[in-house]
Amino acid sequence: LAAPLGMRLLGPGRPGRLLHSSAPLPRPFQVPLTVPSVLRPVHSDGTSDLYEITQQVAQLQILPGLTTPAWTYGGTFPGPTLVARAGRRTTVRHRNELPGATVVHLHGGHTPADSDGYPTDLVLPLRGGAGSAPAATACMPAMPAMPCHGTTARSTPGGREYTYPNDQRAATLWYHDHRMGFTGPAVWRGLAGFHLIHDDEEEALRLPRGDRDIPLMITDRSFAEDGSFQYPSSDPALRVPGVTDAYMDGVLGDVVLVNGAPWPVLHTERARYRLRLLNASNARPYRLELHPQPPGGGGLVQIGGDGGLLERPVRHDAVELAPAERLDVVVDFSSYRPGTRVQLVNRFATDTTAMVMRFDISSAQVAPTDDSAVPERLAPVERLDPAKAVATRTFALRQSRSSGWTINGLPYLPGRALARPRLGTVETWRFVTDFHHPVHLHLNHFQVLSRNGRAPGPYDGGWKDTVDLRPAEAVELAVRFTDHRGAFMMHCHNLEHEDMAMMGDFVTE
Ligand code: C2O
Ligand code: CU
Repeated sequence: LAAPLGMRLLGPGRPGRLLHSSAPLPRPFQVPLTVPSVLRPVHSDGTSDLYEITQQVAQLQILPGLTTPAWTYGGTFPGPTLVARAGRRTTVRHRNELPGATVVHLHGGHTPADSDGYPTDLVLPLRGGAGSAPAATACMPAMPAMPCHGTTARSTPGGREYTYPNDQRAATLWYHDHRMGFTGPAVWRGLAGFHLIHDDEEEALRLPRGDRDIPLMITDRSFAEDGSFQYPSSDPALRVPGVTDAYMDGVLGDVVLVNGAPWPVLHTERARYRLRLLNASNARPYRLELHPQPPGGGGLVQIGGDGGLLERPVRHDAVELAPAERLDVVVDFSSYRPGTRVQLVNRFATDTTAMVMRFDISSAQVAPTDDSAVPERLAPVERLDPAKAVATRTFALRQSRSSGWTINGLPYLPGRALARPRLGTVETWRFVTDFHHPVHLHLNHFQVLSRNGRAPGPYDGGWKDTVDLRPAEAVELAVRFTDHRGAFMMHCHNLEHEDMAMMGDFVTE
């Protein structure tokens, strides 16, 4: 693909700017990995489960000897895991006891518009007083060029219910904050959790389950000397021109947290494990490898992506994961010698954060019983037919001098539709760019048709909701819009790009 004139060819190594910690950092592989607890419903009936989550400030122990004040769902980071059954409704009653307004979005959910977390559909803090955000300041954009539109802002004081039908395939979804102009700092401070959907098709497969089915939320963070999360200020009052702007490409931390623990270690049995990898980092992409590789290589057996199971497993030596993407992999720790310590490392281009976590395999000579399997046929994946597409649209993702990051030259404006697809139809959407942009669509999963005019890449298979674009790339995808009418988001999932306006509405009709 020819590079348009004036393109910023920054190479694959720099999708953001590193923010160094001043806190003392622990040695890697000392802190045990924990798995976020599964939330229990407060009420269940024949068709639905009701949950309650209080968004609150919590004092976390992340670095040894220091406390980190965090914005949390229910007091932990990651927040509690919601486990749902396909076709059974989940309602979550969120209370906002944080000092600022929030918006909850279920990433990957096929959700009606009023529960999807429109960026100005705010839940205002329950408590008044210092630090609370009255309606007038509820919209305070990170970029001065981004307008606030009081007319389109809806807000609910204190709390509200979000309803998720879960009428979709088994998949690893996640929920996170989505407030206009503030998603980056809100997620960085801790507002993210898993939402898993199971179905009969998946359960019939005998994939690793129970303690051997582990969600891994990978994030990078930086810490101030006192242990608090460090983030360049997006508050206009605290914004330092030139310094804050330096982070416009994205904020990178120098510590990798997995499920909120710095470079943790997990003691595993000599058995197969299903690892649900989620890149919940604001801006950092990863290229993950096992080190050492198991004999014969191909140790990361991909069984699923953003939208659930693939048709067939794919063996990888390394997997690439841009912000918001998920990859479900099975790793067979019985293929290593007993007692092997296997690192999960990040080999993304010139990235400085090479360590992620370690698996310490049991030294027991006799392997435990393991009746799990990775069948050669996983789940059928319907192919969307691009010949049936009723429209083709192109979206150019670019930086603009005056208004941050833009889509087709436009910074985000609530209420302005970039596309109006008809429900029930398939469209082909083409994204072109000159930088790193993980593009995400709400409402429906899509299929990657081509990358730079050729076949999709090795990590583009199956149903996706986020697709990674690199400098000078073009990606074409097919999407069928279904069921829910209203305004939904398309945006870059580099959260600093999103906050600095690389977002747009599409309205289904
Ligand atoms: Cu994960 Cu619109 O977001
Ligand atoms: Cu971007």
